[in-house]
Amino acid sequence: MSSAILLVGGMGTRLQPLTLSTPKPMLNVAGVPFTEHQIVKAREAGITEIVLATSFKAELFEPYFGNGEKFGISIKYAVEKEPLGTGGAIRNAAAMLSGQGPVAIFNGDVLSAHDLAGQISFHQSNKADVTLYLTEVADARAFGAVEYESDFRVRAFNEKMENPPTNMINAGCYIFAREVIDSIPENEVISVERQTFPKLLEEQARVFAYVDRSYWLDIGTPAALLKATKDLLSGAMYSAATPALTGGCYISPTAKVDSSAEIEAGTVIGAEAIVEAGVRLQGAVVGKGARVGARSILIDTFIADGAVVPPAVIAESNFLGF
Ligand code: GDD
Ligand code: MG
Repeated sequence: MSSAILLVGGMGTRLQPLTLSTPKPMLNVAGVPFTEHQIVKAREAGITEIVLATSFKAELFEPYFGNGEKFGISIKYAVEKEPLGTGGAIRNAAAMLSGQGPVAIFNGDVLSAHDLAGQISFHQSNKADVTLYLTEVADARAFGAVEYESDFRVRAFNEKMENPPTNMINAGCYIFAREVIDSIPENEVISVERQTFPKLLEEQARVFAYVDRSYWLDIGTPAALLKATKDLLSGAMYSAATPALTGGCYISPTAKVDSSAEIEAGTVIGAEAIVEAGVRLQGAVVGKGARVGARSILIDTFIADGAVVPPAVIAESNFLGF
């Protein structure tokens, strides 16, 4: 049994107002909730059980994912009444895992093509305590900057600093030995980035860097959220969870699209959405049950589930109905 925890309890502050009604991981990315891309990726790497560590809007996950049967993986839900931080969330969720081996842990907002199975075997061959997936970015200030030696032993973890010493960052996927999770204090607010990793390094624990420079994106900002959909629809990034496309678009079979509407590449139209006459959509995400009024032109724009866009609205790089 290969186990994983998905951290999906954050507030998604930078995506407000989108995340006032929908938790960030449940936002639509290329036709499905973002979390589905991560769950399918985990399954493809051989993960058989996953616990969703939820807090903010916890009740919105289970109706969609259920016990995971539909996704070919066992899914359980750990709920934090008050957010426990990333470390507290991991400790809390691990109690629900049936497997006893190492645990893969994912930030709930990272779209990546990195080799997860490779990271797991790297962890095992190093007999590591923790293995961090790292990638390189142009500006590391908003991330955890990670320094490591030539043998990939991690030397320092610097969460969000003004002058990061390196552009190699924590890309948001870890393998933890079970004993390390058990050493995190229970029912306390703990950050793995600010507390657990620095403490492990101080204690000379075996923390390793798994460097993988393939596609990586944190969907935590509005621009990144739309980029994720665009990249999945254009093929710049592959996910087995993306539904079948027609002409670079995904149109739900239950959506009603007027025959005079022009639907251009990079567009997603959700279930039961209505697109009226003369509308033009380009790189638009139309949420479930939303309605786009006649002659509206929407470019790189995200329409909330159930939102109503009046006729003749022109919008570019915008978020409507939140
Ligand atoms: N269950 C639970 N409880 N989940 C939480 C909590 C909590 O209290 N706090 C945060 N999370 C989840 C978020 O939902 C998200 O999926 C993940 O933990 C990381 O939180 P973010 O708020 O997205 O952090 P960040 O993007 O600023 O930084 C993190 O990700 C970067 C890579 O994208 C850090 O891990 C950085 O070190 C890293 O570089
Ligand atoms: Mg993030």
